[in-house]
Amino acid sequence: MEIKDIVDAGPVIPVIVLNEMSHAVPLARALIAGGIRVLEVTLRTPIALDAVQDIRQKVPEAIVGVGTITTPRDFQLAVDAGAHFGVSPASSMWLLDAAKEFRLPFLPGTLTPSEVLAARDAGFHEMKLFPALEAGGPGFVRALGAVYPDVRFCPTGGIIPSSAREYLALPNVCCVGGSWLTPKVLIEAGDWAGIEQLARDASTMRVGLGPPETRSAVRF
Ligand code: 3PG
Repeated sequence: MEIKDIVDAGPVIPVIVLNEMSHAVPLARALIAGGIRVLEVTLRTPIALDAVQDIRQKVPEAIVGVGTITTPRDFQLAVDAGAHFGVSPASSMWLLDAAKEFRLPFLPGTLTPSEVLAARDAGFHEMKLFPALEAGGPGFVRALGAVYPDVRFCPTGGIIPSSAREYLALPNVCCVGGSWLTPKVLIEAGDWAGIEQLARDASTMRVGLGPPETRSAVRF
């Protein structure tokens, strides 16, 4: 599976922070039941990699990524845990090279036009854009499309359902990322039905532009 297929597998990638191993599989099952198949488990807690491994073993329908990759070693850990893909909040040449070396489908984090150019020069055409709200929101992403029509973004950071729809309406947005699908309060309460409902609302947020193959000729 290539990163372009992963970012096209759904409109929203939930950004997940897990504190308890017992939450990993029920959370993944709730997201899948709500129609969200692509999950990003962030390396922000000590159990993250074990959680990825557990989800890979017990929830085979899930496409599981490791998020918050910031060092080449993180790629090794993600590959060892069985991750399908990796995501970073930012990129460096070091990180972009490591993604290729480990052959892990990778969504590099970018923000500025220069960072987008550097990642594109390294061969990446799908990128996370973080933090999207603080950078200027949908207007900022639209402006990047004028100069980089061959790059598609997954804006992340400060996104809520209403702004998600605005981003998804842009032709250079393949999906958005966000933590609103997996709020800490619902995870800690074990409210899997509540998370399933949030996932269902998100999974039906479709871009009004048709299937990805009809969107390749981007017009601004
Ligand atoms: C990320 O890791 O991409 C962000 O922390 C998610 O941002 P959000 O919590 O504002 O959705």
